[in-house]
Amino acid sequence: MQTRAAILWEAGTDWSVEDIELDDPKAGEIKVKLAASGLCHSDEHMVTGDMVLDPEIAALLQLEQFPVIGGHEGAGEVVEVGPGVTTLKEGDHVVLGFIPSCGRCPSCAMGRQHLCDLGAFLLAGRQVSDFTARHHSKSGKDLGIMCCTGTFSPYTVVNEATCVKIDDWLPLDKAALVGCGVTTGWGSAVNAADVQPGETVVVIGLGGIGMNAVQGAAMAGARHVVAVDTVEWKREKSAVFGSTHTAASIEEAAAMVSEMTWGAQADKAILTTGVATGDLIGPMMGMVTKGGRAVVTAVAPIAQEDVKLNLFDLAMQRKELVGSIFGNANPRRDIPRLLRLYDEGKLKLDELVTSTYALDDVNKGYQDMRDGKNIRGMIKY
Ligand SMILES: NC(=O)c1ccc[n+]([C@@H]2O[C@H](COP(=O)([O-])OP(=O)(O)OC[C@H]3O[C@@H](n4cnc5c(N)ncnc54)[C@H](O)[C@@H]3O)[C@@H](O)[C@H]2O)c1
Ligand SMILES: [Zn+2]
Ligand SMILES: [Zn+2]
Repeated sequence: MQTRAAILWEAGTDWSVEDIELDDPKAGEIKVKLAASGLCHSDEHMVTGDMVLDPEIAALLQLEQFPVIGGHEGAGEVVEVGPGVTTLKEGDHVVLGFIPSCGRCPSCAMGRQHLCDLGAFLLAGRQVSDFTARHHSKSGKDLGIMCCTGTFSPYTVVNEATCVKIDDWLPLDKAALVGCGVTTGWGSAVNAADVQPGETVVVIGLGGIGMNAVQGAAMAGARHVVAVDTVEWKREKSAVFGSTHTAASIEEAAAMVSEMTWGAQADKAILTTGVATGDLIGPMMGMVTKGGRAVVTAVAPIAQEDVKLNLFDLAMQRKELVGSIFGNANPRRDIPRLLRLYDEGKLKLDELVTSTYALDDVNKGYQDMRDGKNIRGMIKY
């Protein structure tokens, strides 16, 4: 069929919205009519060149990262299933998880679906069934799909392992957010930071990920949730998601935390800035208490190796510095679980969407993100 998609032909350029040709789903695959796609900062990392396909995977599969259809935070309705699909049928509503969960690799078997072996192919852009493309440009060139999803298009074809079935009365445009931002942010607090009742938590960076870390920390029972962002209106808005204090910088947050805890410092800190840089780690670790934990969820430029960190404190104060992907969640359990909380009024999704855009305005959506105008921008189809 013919449809349209926002394509990145190379790093450093705008998204190009073009007509594309979409094949029917092959064995184990699903065609999804998408309702919406969130504009996550991770797609921006492909634009800036921070996020690059592993050269070994590229050589193994003999393919290139570009051109690629962006978007990985979507939900929609199944319109066609390929041969052998057993868990979904036409008409089902699904959220697309930004990491597939095969259910049978060692990580999935251990209940760590966020580390599914198929995650190795997130930037390879091809169907994980046979590493060929279902998406093609008008000139006949194979198109990759971001995170095995490619949600910057009203239609896509994905593997069954990417689809998580949800209740069909839930609004699909809100459910889309749970495909990445909500699960990643909420899980960064609840799972990765393991926030406990009464703790002091600092969240640095209040976009679609950070606001959900605030929301997760508050839901886990934190006593103080200090929300940090350089953008004033985001700091103010964070109260809706459960922040108790705000600060404009890590330094300001550190002083505040010292005072509010009588010098005991923060139990947990979570880094959700647009870009993770090594200079942020030292100050973040500096405001974490002995035995405390700092979580890095933000994505760094792939070649970055330098980190400023006091190694003496790390050992002598038994601090922990941990990474987190997809909120350390199990999408097949946690996506329906989070949506149930939304359905019961306990999780906020509506308040996350600042602006909606037509697919043709995807570049405006990303400019608004860069300009600090959005918590989450969203394309609606
Ligand atoms: N680990 C994962 O699984 C995962 C998943 C999704 C996104 N991410 C990453 O999480 C990060 C956040 O994504 P997002 O979509 O929320 O981005 P965003 O751009 O919407 O939000 C980032 C926020 O950080 C703020 N900020 C930037 N520098 C800051 C600083 N020095 N101090 C305080 N605030 C600062 C910005 O003002 C902005 O509000 C990105 O790096 C994204 O790629 C990681
Ligand atoms: Zn994302
Ligand atoms: Zn797996």
